[in-house]
Amino acid sequence: MRNAIVAIGTVMLFALSSSAMAASGATLFKQKCSVCHGAQGQGTPGMAPKLAGTDFIKGPAEPIQETIVNGRAGADKRYKKLPLAMPKLGVKAKDAAEIVKYLKTL
Ligand code: HEC
Repeated sequence: MRNAIVAIGTVMLFALSSSAMAASGATLFKQKCSVCHGAQGQGTPGMAPKLAGTDFIKGPAEPIQETIVNGRAGADKRYKKLPLAMPKLGVKAKDAAEIVKYLKTL
């Protein structure tokens, strides 16, 4: 009986932790990015570019992660028609990697 309870507890813990891990990129995006890039990464006209399914997001993870960590402003801006820069939001590299994984699922 005790073993069964321990086993159930272990399974539940695993289910909880794996769902929390899966949610973190999504949660970070919702908290820090969706205000500009839209809830589904669809972009906001005149404000921030689309992220869902674009060539940049489908490409290598490294430049995406770098953009998230460092932002993109001034001469580095690629979307000259958008008045805003991509702000440096203080996202840690580890969190940025989770966000990149999430962006690739959009
Ligand atoms: C204040 C609005 C704002 C917020 C908040 C914001 N961004 Fe951006 N983001 C921008 C703008 C504006 C650009 C376009 C910069 C440029 O002209 O190259 C951009 C560009 C990007 C790009 C490059 C897209 C491309 O096609 O080159 C990525 C990736 C990105 N943002 C991801 C994120 C992520 C992830 C977050 C949350 C951690 C976030 N952004 C938060 C405004 C924002």
